[in-house]
Amino acid sequence: MASPTEAPGFDGTRHPSIARINDCWLEGANHGQDDREYAGRIELCAPHIPYLVRASRALTGRMTKYLFDQGVRQFVDLGSGIPTQRHLHEVAQALDPRCHVVYVDLDPAVVSDSREILAGNDQVAYLQADIRDRDLVLGEPAMRALIDFSEPVGLLAIETLLYLPDSADPGALVAAYADALPAGSFVGLSHCGEDSQLREGLDMFSRMFGQPPAVTLREREELEAFFTGLELVDPGVVPVLLWHPQTQDEVGRNPELAHMYAGLGRKR
Ligand SMILES: C[S@@+](CC[C@H](N)C(=O)[O-])C[C@H]1O[C@@H](n2cnc3c(N)ncnc32)[C@H](O)[C@@H]1O
Repeated sequence: MASPTEAPGFDGTRHPSIARINDCWLEGANHGQDDREYAGRIELCAPHIPYLVRASRALTGRMTKYLFDQGVRQFVDLGSGIPTQRHLHEVAQALDPRCHVVYVDLDPAVVSDSREILAGNDQVAYLQADIRDRDLVLGEPAMRALIDFSEPVGLLAIETLLYLPDSADPGALVAAYADALPAGSFVGLSHCGEDSQLREGLDMFSRMFGQPPAVTLREREELEAFFTGLELVDPGVVPVLLWHPQTQDEVGRNPELAHMYAGLGRKR
């Protein structure tokens, strides 16, 4: 099955995919020549994308640590990409090796590579599923084996919802996931906003190389609406670099220039 997040345009046996392209920018080891070439094309058109990818991976780490400090020991990550380079389970299990993590992604090649990477780690599972089917995702035996839905869960979707068009109603999907979680659970989201630089980059990509991967950019207020019914943790939905920054270096001089927003909601 072809993934909608496969990047079109090459004829290799393995198509470049968003997750492996991100791996290039995160300086991981799970990508190939096609992915590097495709990453180079994106960088040519939108040179700030690698910076945003690194900023969102740092956010995953900060949210994981925050949730751990709130007592959360089990995590579900929707649209995970490759589980290396300071991804969720690495951060959580460095804090407590008993943390349980379930990753979910649609892309079959990414899932098979990820399962190899995670082999031997019995507290972590990697599901191949479309996150739009909440009941299927939450009902998977591997999910049920690792996640106890009577205890608080930290559920993250970091730079994933932008792959869902408005017709998929991502707000309703977030609400449906939140509905299935017990009180005291958290939902963490990040999302690329309308950014003239990014928009121009996507247009330039179409002119130079053909169709770019389809994404829906959403403004801060739209992301905020996805938290309806949840209690937004301070400081609310903010530019990603301003969500619980840990060092001044991570914030940089113009954090508001990163048109990527993040927030964390708590279920009462
Ligand atoms: C930009 S990557 C983000 C990966 C990771 N969350 C991170 O922060 O590095 C988006 C991921 O979402 C996955 N994805 C997109 N739509 C999906 C869907 N409907 N169901 C499951 N995974 C999906 C893609 O395959 C890709 O690996």
